[in-house]
Amino acid sequence: MSGKATEISMSSFFSRFMKFGSQNMAIDLGTANTLVYVQDRGIVLNEPSVVAIETINGNKSVKAVGDDAKMMMGKTPDSIEAIRPLRDGVIADIEIAEEMIKHFIRKVHGKRSLFRYPEIVICVPSGSTSVERRAIRDAASNAGASQVYLILEPMAAAIGADMPVTEPVGSMVVDIGGGTTEVAVLSLRGLAYTTSVRVGGDKMDEAIVSYVRRHHNLLIGEATAERIKKDYGIAVMPADGIGETIHLKGRDLVNGVPKEITITQANIAEALSEPISAIIEGVRIALENTAPELAADIVDQGIVLTGGGALIKGLDDYLREETGLPVSIAEDPLSCVALGTGRAMEDPIYRGVLMTA
Ligand SMILES: Nc1ncnc2c1ncn2[C@@H]1O[C@H](COP(=O)(O)OP(=O)(O)OP(=O)(O)O)[C@@H](O)[C@H]1O
Ligand SMILES: [Mg+2]
Repeated sequence: MSGKATEISMSSFFSRFMKFGSQNMAIDLGTANTLVYVQDRGIVLNEPSVVAIETINGNKSVKAVGDDAKMMMGKTPDSIEAIRPLRDGVIADIEIAEEMIKHFIRKVHGKRSLFRYPEIVICVPSGSTSVERRAIRDAASNAGASQVYLILEPMAAAIGADMPVTEPVGSMVVDIGGGTTEVAVLSLRGLAYTTSVRVGGDKMDEAIVSYVRRHHNLLIGEATAERIKKDYGIAVMPADGIGETIHLKGRDLVNGVPKEITITQANIAEALSEPISAIIEGVRIALENTAPELAADIVDQGIVLTGGGALIKGLDDYLREETGLPVSIAEDPLSCVALGTGRAMEDPIYRGVLMTA
C-alpha cells in the first residue's frame, strides 16, 4: 500500500518544516477522538470527534465542537443534533468533518492564524480508499493548511509506541480505535501486511446497549454504555464468574419510565465477547498472512496494542493466550497515533512514511 504512495522530496520538505517552526501540526483525526500535536510542543489538544449542529428555520450552524458537543450527545432538543462526522474509521459527513478540523486548528492556532497557515500531517486508516484520503486531505486544505501530508494510521501508532519500524525487523501493531481495529506488520518504514476490521470501541458500546435491552428491557444511551465499558469492561469472564456489581439507569421499554437495574461484570464480559472475538480473529488472519521471516521476528518482538480499546481489562492476556505470542500495551495507547504522526513530521529518520496522496 505504501509503495503506491507518492514520496516527496524530503530535504525540501524538512527544510520547510524547520523554517515554519512550531506552526506545523500533526493531527490524529480519529472516529472517537481528535488529537493535535504541534511541532516542538507535543500534544496540545485532545477532544472527542463530535460536532453539535443547530438547525433554525432550515439554516444549519455549528453550536459546539469537541468536549462541549460530546456532553450534549443523547441530550439535545430537536433543533440540535450531536454528530460524529467520522464513523467506522471513515468520513461519514465530509462537510461537518471539515468544520471540526477548522475549529480545532483555530483553537490551537489562536490569533496567529491571521498571519500564516501551517503545514499539516494527518493520519488516515490503512484501509481507506483514495477517494476517502482525498476527502481528508481536502478537508485539511480547506481548513487552512498550506500543505497536507498523510500517514497511515498503523504506521503512526507503531512510531508512537516506539516500535522499531525503520529496521529490517518485523513487528506487529494492533490499534483498537473507536471505529476500526487496524492490524499491521511493519518493517523498514513500510507496512508488510495490513488488515482493518470494522470493530472497535463503538461496537463494544453497541453490544452493551443491546445486551441490556435484550436481557432487561432497558434502553440505555451510547454515553452510558461507553462509561460502563471503560469502568467495568473485561475481555474474559471474571475469575469468580461474577466480578463487580454494576448499577445502571435507563428507560424501561415495557412501561416507558426511568428505571435502575443491577448487572454484573460477567454480563459485560458476555456482551463484549462478540466484538472481542472479531478483533482476535483479525489478528489471527494477519498472522496467517505474514511472511515467514517476519512471522519469526514477531515471535521475538511480540504484538503491541494501541488505541483506547487496548485498555479493556484482560485483553492483552487473552490475546497472549490465543496467539501464544508476547503481547504488550503501549505506554499511552490513546496518544500513540498522534505522537507517532508528530514524530514522523519532526524526525528525518522517518522520511518515507509521509505521503502526499
Ligand atoms: N479505559 C478504557 N477501556 C476501554 N475502552 C476505552 C478506554 N478508554 C477509551 N476507550 C475507548 O477507546 C475508543 C477510542 O479510542 P481511540 O481514541 O484510540 O479511537 P480513535 O482513534 O478515535 O478511533 P479510530 O482509530 O477507529 O478512528 C472509544 O471507543 C473509547 O470508549
Ligand atoms: Mg485511532
